[in-house]
Amino acid sequence: MLVTLEGIDGSGKTTVWEALRDARSGDDDDGFTFTAEPTDSWYGEAVRRSEVADDADPLAELFLFTADHADHLSRVVEPALERGDVVVSDRYSDSRYAYQGAALDGEINRAMEYVRGIHQPWTRPPDLTLYFDVDPETGAARSGATNKFEQAEFLADVRQNYEQLVDYDPERFVRIDATQSPEAVIEDAEDVLGRVLHADDG
Ligand code: TYD
Repeated sequence: MLVTLEGIDGSGKTTVWEALRDARSGDDDDGFTFTAEPTDSWYGEAVRRSEVADDADPLAELFLFTADHADHLSRVVEPALERGDVVVSDRYSDSRYAYQGAALDGEINRAMEYVRGIHQPWTRPPDLTLYFDVDPETGAARSGATNKFEQAEFLADVRQNYEQLVDYDPERFVRIDATQSPEAVIEDAEDVLGRVLHADDG
């Protein structure tokens, strides 16, 4: 089973991902693989460089993020799923659809559909996505608005794209109110994950 954590910057999903990871044994054979995009491979490093470059070309950036995803999929996600692990990824393909869909809006016709289209033939869609929902002002304030992706105006567009993705695929997404305290958000996420994994067992 592939579980992804998605939301705008400052939604707190990385804190939740860490809590979910730390609550599990952390042994290599505990049946869980905790992973994230951007990755720490050299593809991921290229992505990080682009992120802080204000003059980065958004189309070039889309393909950097997408290259990182392709490598992540073949090197980490697919082998873990083949071992029977539950894979929990902090960000995944929906981040590209939402963020690069917003970044390319006005440059490419139906940008989010275009970004989904280039993934569709080869990606592995998640089975479950926890969507950490927070308003863009809170998200930007929490993230410190230090890079181009963390500005409230941009995050408002990203959030709209996430809402569109939820509409396309309502049974895959579970919305979590990320304006709550970190403890409450973590509890909600554990509840959802516990329920889904239990149902999968039975
Ligand atoms: P993030 O998960 O916030 O990593 P960290 O908090 O460790 O820096 O991701 C970094 C930024 O990259 C974030 O602003 C979202 C953006 N991003 C995209 O634009 N497209 C993508 O495909 C991914 C994975 C991230």
